[in-house]
Amino acid sequence: MAIYKSITAFAPASVANVSCGFDIMGFAVAGIGDKVTVSLQAGTDNTRVILTGKYGHFTPVERHKNTAGVAVIAYLQAIGRSELNLEIILEKNMPLGSGMGSSASSSAAAVYAVNYLLGSPLSTSELIPFAMEGERIACGSAHADNVAPALLGGFTLIRSYSPLDIISIKCPDDLYAAIVHPHVELNTSDSRRVLKNEVSVTNAIIQSANTAGFMVALLQSDYNLMKRSMSDLLAEPQRIHLIPGFESIRKAAMETGAVGCGISGSGPSIFALCKGEAMAMQVADVICEGFTKIGLFNEAYVSQVNAPGTCIVDFIEN
Ligand code: HSE
Repeated sequence: MAIYKSITAFAPASVANVSCGFDIMGFAVAGIGDKVTVSLQAGTDNTRVILTGKYGHFTPVERHKNTAGVAVIAYLQAIGRSELNLEIILEKNMPLGSGMGSSASSSAAAVYAVNYLLGSPLSTSELIPFAMEGERIACGSAHADNVAPALLGGFTLIRSYSPLDIISIKCPDDLYAAIVHPHVELNTSDSRRVLKNEVSVTNAIIQSANTAGFMVALLQSDYNLMKRSMSDLLAEPQRIHLIPGFESIRKAAMETGAVGCGISGSGPSIFALCKGEAMAMQVADVICEGFTKIGLFNEAYVSQVNAPGTCIVDFIEN
């Protein structure tokens, strides 16, 4: 018998890729994310999803199409409890197609809540593959660079997908991110379709050198090295045309003092890494101005890169 009648978990937004780490790097963003409440119901195998929140009506409700539902079903199958009848209430606070890990936030909160409800048989890291199933349904690719930081918090590196090998990296405490979401929807599946399948050896060398340089920069708090390393040859060149105003906005962010600036995940949001919160706020303002100038409404978030991951925010005992 479960100790809890219902569990509510919150999972944060996240920035994936972080310029030089396409599909392998990401970090959690404080202050925005989805909430999921899971409760056990009478009967068997009738798990259903209920949508609430500002963006609930834009999200598929069918449990096999909803990222929270898919992640929970995959989890229940893996632990041999598919007979359970759960009610999953998804409070969808994040817009879809924002490039801030919206689908990951729903699936991370859902698996975390159900695992807790059932007495935490799995560790938080062990929940990542189920949340990745949510990503597969959302965009056709089970990438982990949003779900890993959403669940674990902070900055994560996916060293390998097969087998899954995820490393949490402690970043400098004064490393902040400015993230600005322009009000345009860009589906990850569309944004992945523009990518090339082949990479030249020359570009592979440059990319892996930058990724390695960036890792060293994080571990040694070397902001100059971070700046030199934050460039992407795999995704950004093909995606730039999908992000209105990207090049001039990045230029303005760098001139203001950002350490690096790129597309957040698959876009359209833009992120910038900065030394200190004050600089991140200044850079966020500049990015907002850039989008406003071209007629796009936008929202800005400023977060420490070492931000918390998924957590329980409410429960009802049996
Ligand atoms: N790594 C993924 C991509 C992140 O860039 O397609 C999607 O948010």
